[in-house]
Amino acid sequence: MPALIAEGVTAGYGRAPIIFDISLSAELGTVTTIIGPNGAGKSTFAKALVGILRPMSGRVSVNGVDLTRMPGYQIPRHGLVYVPQNDNVFKRLTVRENLEVGGFAARADPQARMEEILAIFTDLDKAKEKKAGFLSGGQQNLLAIARALMVDPVAVLLDEPTAGLSPAYTDTVWAQIERISHLNTAVIVVEQNVERALKHSDYVHIFVAGRNHVHGEAREIGSLDLASIFLGRSHTP
Ligand SMILES: Nc1ncnc2c1ncn2[C@@H]1O[C@H](COP(=O)(O)OP(=O)(O)OP(=O)(O)O)[C@@H](O)[C@H]1O
Ligand SMILES: [Mg+2]
Repeated sequence: MPALIAEGVTAGYGRAPIIFDISLSAELGTVTTIIGPNGAGKSTFAKALVGILRPMSGRVSVNGVDLTRMPGYQIPRHGLVYVPQNDNVFKRLTVRENLEVGGFAARADPQARMEEILAIFTDLDKAKEKKAGFLSGGQQNLLAIARALMVDPVAVLLDEPTAGLSPAYTDTVWAQIERISHLNTAVIVVEQNVERALKHSDYVHIFVAGRNHVHGEAREIGSLDLASIFLGRSHTP
């Protein structure tokens, strides 16, 4: 059974839905990426998964536990963590203190987990005692991701983790995303750049106008006429 299952999620901000009947499932050890034009509803879907928005219909579960009606603050404890696009790390706290805050809801030994995380995020390890506000934008993004990982999540949802980063740092962040999936985690990423999504993911979903227009293995998706799909046309190659 996939670690994270969203079935038929419809959600919005007022009475009118913004996203319609979206289903997505993600397995441990894989990267699933959501791409699509601006305003397609990618962030709205992310918020509906993690309890920031209450779905109007549909269901979200992690390891078989139904999270759909759960208060947002309880969701990380059930193994689903979310890093919003502009996650502000605690700028006045050090890198280590930021990670300690992240470990507050940890299910296992936070100290051991921190060592595991710092072994992957070696840049952060070197900057452990630095205040987060003095890190570069890219390093702050990595710290936000690392902090989310402190709870040893089943599934992690990253909304545009490379937005605004230099091409070189974007590659660094994507390399880390792949490594995170190897920690036996289901990683779901919202990404603007189609090429990068196809290169680094196992599965790709394309949202257009609030619908899950096309999805499949990255290989298959790469062979489709994506320009037409982004315009909402049929996806027959
Ligand atoms: N807080 C909000 N209240 C009302 N409408 C909103 C709110 N946030 C987003 N929307 C609307 O919902 C639609 C989908 O927005 P969403 O942010 O989910 O798109 P997105 O695919 O993440 O786009 P982007 O690529 O620009 O991040 C847009 O029309 C947007 O204007
Ligand atoms: Mg968005």
